[in-house]
Amino acid sequence: ETQYQNILLERHGRVAQLTLNRPEALNALNKATMDELVAAATELDPDPEIGAIVITGSAKAFAAGADIKEMAAQDYMEMYAQDWFRNWENLTRLRIPMIAAVSGFALGGGCELAMMCDFIIAGENAKFGQPEINLGVLPGMGGSQRLTRAVGKAKAMDLILTGRFMGAEEAERSGLVARVVPAEEVVAEALKAAEVIASKSKPVTMIAKEAVNAAFEMGLVQGVTYERRLFHSVFATEDQKEGMSAFVEKRTPDFKHR
Ligand code: CAA
Repeated sequence: ETQYQNILLERHGRVAQLTLNRPEALNALNKATMDELVAAATELDPDPEIGAIVITGSAKAFAAGADIKEMAAQDYMEMYAQDWFRNWENLTRLRIPMIAAVSGFALGGGCELAMMCDFIIAGENAKFGQPEINLGVLPGMGGSQRLTRAVGKAKAMDLILTGRFMGAEEAERSGLVARVVPAEEVVAEALKAAEVIASKSKPVTMIAKEAVNAAFEMGLVQGVTYERRLFHSVFATEDQKEGMSAFVEKRTPDFKHR
């Protein structure tokens, strides 16, 4: 299997765990880390043995942002020519379900990485924020767009303009976070949720994810029509036959992921 310098890849049955591993920089997301995380997830996406991915960091920091030291001296032409942060966007093109397990700081690019996942499970100690304004910049990995869609204009403006941090309870109340659990249980809880997802039909979970994401791109009539077409399409899978037969026969379905 590919060896990585800045992340760890572990397989737990049908779940893959990707752990950011730059403790000396609170998992600051430099280009090398970004490239590795995107490459690893892209390789896992079509793997028939893997049904869900958990992305996590350390107990103290999911990720404290894009790497400020790497960016500090960059000029406009360098940022533009390399299209800085463009590669992160590839994560959002993957079809496999992805959960962010957030303990400690998820700031700037760290918060934006968590928001690129399908949902966030947070420890009680989690701190979310977009503090870029303190550095004389603004969010650059989708924060102004995804945070606003997640929590609405009032809180997004508050966080992005003041740079303040938001705790786990406020984040859950605002709709940024799906579940809050005791800090020491956050990875276990995310792995458990991922295992549940990975036990379902992989193509159907991917299609369900696509349907939910369409809600952010389409109007209601178009979105509901799109969903209905997707619903029709899963009747081409063996797993639909198995799932419905198992219900009728009062047994557990044995999905074959096709
Ligand atoms: N980039 C580079 N290094 C970082 C970093 C970052 N985003 N965040 C932390 N580090 C480094 C620190 O420089 C420090 O390194 P040294 O020991 O070599 O000095 C080490 O990680 C530990 O950090 P602290 O000593 O600061 O730890 P703390 O517990 O005192 O504070 C913190 C924790 C409040 C998270 C603080 O580190 C902090 O404010 N970090 C920066 C947060 C931030 O501004 N993030 C946004 C980055 S810009 C961005 O993300 C743009 C975008 O939209 C994509």
